[in-house]
Amino acid sequence: MLNIRIEKTKNPKPLPAADDPLKFGTIFTDHMFIMNYETGKGWFDPRVVPYQKIELDPSAMVFHYGQEMFEGLKAYRSEDGKVLLFRPDKNIERANNTNRRICIPEIPEDIFLEAIKTVVKVDEAWVPSKPDTSLYIRPFIIATDPYLGVRPADTYLFMIILSPVGPYYPEGLNPVKIWIEDEYVRAVKGGIGEAKTGGNYVASLASQVKAHEEGYSQVLWLDGIERKYIEEVGAMNIFFKINGTVITPKLNGSILPGVTRDSCIQLCKKWGLTVEEKKISVDEVFKAAEDGTLEEVWGTGTAAVVSPVSHLRWENKVSKIKDGGIGELSKKLYENITGIQLGKIQGPDGWIEVVK
Ligand code: COI
Repeated sequence: MLNIRIEKTKNPKPLPAADDPLKFGTIFTDHMFIMNYETGKGWFDPRVVPYQKIELDPSAMVFHYGQEMFEGLKAYRSEDGKVLLFRPDKNIERANNTNRRICIPEIPEDIFLEAIKTVVKVDEAWVPSKPDTSLYIRPFIIATDPYLGVRPADTYLFMIILSPVGPYYPEGLNPVKIWIEDEYVRAVKGGIGEAKTGGNYVASLASQVKAHEEGYSQVLWLDGIERKYIEEVGAMNIFFKINGTVITPKLNGSILPGVTRDSCIQLCKKWGLTVEEKKISVDEVFKAAEDGTLEEVWGTGTAAVVSPVSHLRWENKVSKIKDGGIGELSKKLYENITGIQLGKIQGPDGWIEVVK
């Protein structure tokens, strides 16, 4: 049991109005969790404090070499007023995988979970209850040594901030158009593609700008070597339903192992569908679109949940998926995953952690 000091704000902010659309990532709650690390001392001084700015030296290592990691999970308000977390153990496991990859000290799993539950409990009133809303939880760690040499830092800050959110995409559950990138790559095997660290996201920006200018919401990445195999969308993993089989790229070291990805695979298998995690080429996908066997495409992510895809653009070809509407399986997955998250549907054992 961790001794987390709690200092409550003297100036609580008004909660968002009932009709606030809760634009993703723009509103922050009254409190945050923070804990320090020093080599030789370990993680220390865990505390929940009023949400505030932090002071860092301009030479802090995170600013120069990007030694930082983050996670994303959500707290949900059930109909009977409880606050629930969805598979937080998977996020915590992934966080420590990221930490190992980029030389950040690991955080013991029980301490990580207790930190999340404590800060969410303090700001429990901020967990929204309207359909398609939740409290987005953003744990992150930054390297803080004031030093310009390249090496792993000796001091870190672990923080958790909270943000009440609506849908990630302005489209909500309406299908999104996806741009398959043929100029840049996001990651290569052996790199940091499977780690949740800012470097993977900054690598995506130039393509995202280009895609937006062309009217596409997101970028789908191909493998960095042959530029042939589908990888992921950056804010989502990707699924195809071809001729009745559900296919998603196999985790290969350059793809983020998504918690919603894993949940979709488990649910589809439970429903008796054939699920294949395998290498799938962009050619195969376009051929399936041409011969009419590409039945559905959707993305999955904590922020995006399940997001149907209506169009795929690659080089000079644009493929419309069926009638461009929401596919039957995408809808069923969305309804079941959100149903489990809200405590309305019984999910597999261990998927729900009750905060209060
Ligand atoms: C999430 O889905 O939680 C993510 O971290 C994606 C992020 C880019 C919003």
